[in-house]
Amino acid sequence: MAEATNHTLHTPTTAQTDASRAVGIQIRKLYKIFGPTPEKFLPAVLDGMSKQELREQHGHVLGLRDIHIDMPAGGIQVVMGLSGSGKSTLIRHINRLIDPTSGEVLVGNDAQQVDVVKMTASQLQRFRREETAMVFQKFALFPHLTVQENTEYGLKVQGIKPKQREEQALRWIERVGLKGYESSYPNQLSGGMQQRVGLARALTNDAPILLMDEAFSALDPLIRTDMQSVLLDIQQEIGKTIVFITHDLDEALRLGDRIAILRDGEVVQQGTGQQIVLKPADDYIESFVRDVNRGRVIRCRTLMQDGPAVEGPTVDASLVIEEAARLLSAEGKDAADVVNSKGKRLGTVCMNDIIAAMVPPRDEAPGTQPG
Ligand SMILES: Nc1ncnc2c1ncn2[C@@H]1O[C@H](COP(=O)(O)OP(=O)(O)O)[C@@H](O)[C@H]1O
Ligand SMILES: [Mg+2]
Repeated sequence: MAEATNHTLHTPTTAQTDASRAVGIQIRKLYKIFGPTPEKFLPAVLDGMSKQELREQHGHVLGLRDIHIDMPAGGIQVVMGLSGSGKSTLIRHINRLIDPTSGEVLVGNDAQQVDVVKMTASQLQRFRREETAMVFQKFALFPHLTVQENTEYGLKVQGIKPKQREEQALRWIERVGLKGYESSYPNQLSGGMQQRVGLARALTNDAPILLMDEAFSALDPLIRTDMQSVLLDIQQEIGKTIVFITHDLDEALRLGDRIAILRDGEVVQQGTGQQIVLKPADDYIESFVRDVNRGRVIRCRTLMQDGPAVEGPTVDASLVIEEAARLLSAEGKDAADVVNSKGKRLGTVCMNDIIAAMVPPRDEAPGTQPG
């Protein structure tokens, strides 16, 4: 494919990765009603009209109701929920592919925050191109472009010079494990490899916000786990603000620094994975977390007790207890000293507590609760 000429395009920005550019996203009082006259029904919805009544009596769909989420700068915010719960509707408000019926989407840091909802068309265009990148479930690669051309595409649209965008693209193609496939076409690649291209393309754009809508949901389980590892590994280095949508709890717990759970367009619980697993807000969430491997979610910090130093291994407070159990078992010890990231001793954790936390007592087991 012929190179586009650059001289007619606007001045390129530098495409440098810089974690200090991390921006937070704050969603405030966000409502979305789908239908011909959403504004007309907003007051009733604000007054508490149910999704069902809105649909059955008035032919409008309540997409989102009163969403408040603080998405951490430089962290992974997971949005989880069943199909139809409003996840895609929510993520599309962040780059305003969908306009809200009311509410704010504030993006930035303490020094400067802008409301995406109030952006003019040209501000929005710049914001979408330079501040956000998306990874889609269905990859959305150009079939007639090679891996490298697909990966460079966003920078090309931004008017970045060929040499510079090639440098960036090749770096990320290698980083996602596709070195050697630069000249392949998407239909020559497996699904997992195509999604690596989708990720490389998004990373090459070097936007501070990465929006991933069920990006791994179409992949086979093993490949999906691989992609999660690739993402976590790269995130260590880039520290972007990632909004990751999934309907899978294991994926949510593995990736999410914070998790928000949606049901019927409302946030039913948000917090860390551990908070959600240990204190599910209602039966709906309890049914989600029932079968989760708690050993991979609960951290030593949570089970730690005061007490004198023990003769045994030393574990980091953020280590998940399954790993701590593995260590204890390997060394034949009953307890470990817990330390913070600077090596300061905080307390001890013992094998009995770990086992009790990993295996909930019988009367907590599903189906045995009274009433
Ligand atoms: N353009 C639209 N018009 C009417 N209803 C819509 C539209 N887009 C989404 N919806 C409805 O909003 C709800 C949430 O949809 P969506 O955000 O796609 O859910 P999810 O991504 O969690 O599967 C669903 O009830 C869906 O039917
Ligand atoms: Mg969706």
